[in-house]
Amino acid sequence: MENRGISVILFDLDNTLVDTAGAGKAAIHKVSELLKNKLDHANISDMCERFVRKLFEETFDPSSGQTIDRVRINHWYEAIQEAEVVDPGQSLASDCYYTWKTTRLQALALSPEVLALLEDLRCSYKLLLLTNGDSQTQREKIEALRCEGLFSAVVVGGEHDEQKPAAPIFTHCFELLGVKPEDCIMVGDSLDTDIQGGYNAGVRATVWINKRGGFPSDNTVTPDYTISSVLDLPKVLDNLR
Ligand SMILES: *[C@@H]1O[C@H](CO)[C@@H](O)[C@H](O)[C@H]1NC(C)=O
Repeated sequence: MENRGISVILFDLDNTLVDTAGAGKAAIHKVSELLKNKLDHANISDMCERFVRKLFEETFDPSSGQTIDRVRINHWYEAIQEAEVVDPGQSLASDCYYTWKTTRLQALALSPEVLALLEDLRCSYKLLLLTNGDSQTQREKIEALRCEGLFSAVVVGGEHDEQKPAAPIFTHCFELLGVKPEDCIMVGDSLDTDIQGGYNAGVRATVWINKRGGFPSDNTVTPDYTISSVLDLPKVLDNLR
């Protein structure tokens, strides 16, 4: 293998470039205020926890003819019903969902520091955004962030047969940019999808964004580099040069 520098950086989106978890918390807070106004004496935190659990366990099949909006309205409907044991009505569930969705999208932002980093990196590297998730949800986030122009290509897992960590979606990325795996690094916060996927695909290096400072467990892949914030990426790039 020739030992030349890398030319492409593959970035995960959620909790790598943007604080999706923080935006999610802000959205839940907003819905809990709405619910407090509508439902007296109800256990609102129970409802919100149930919604978050349903979201986490969600499996969405676009070929079912359902929309993600419909599925998530139903998460709220069930969460309220399970906590309250009464029919909450479709309109309350719908209000909760659209409040959650709008608040989350509004709270999602590229920090000025991350924006500056990406602007800087794209002078020297091709940047590709590779995000898992259903098409509508991820495209809405990318639009809210107005970040598409920063990347040479944007690849959304839900628009392909297999998502990260499957190798074919990485191969698709390499082909889009006309590069080899060894020309690329993969940067992301998930060991199971980003780091395992980059490893499967044979990228030059994997970079794990480890915000919490814990250690990978024994049964996961070992990242080549670990940094606590994407803002530390330049140090890794210097090291690879
Ligand atoms: C509300 O629900 C949560 C979670 O189910 C439970 O831990 C808590 O005790 C409940 N609070 C009240 C006031 O019932």
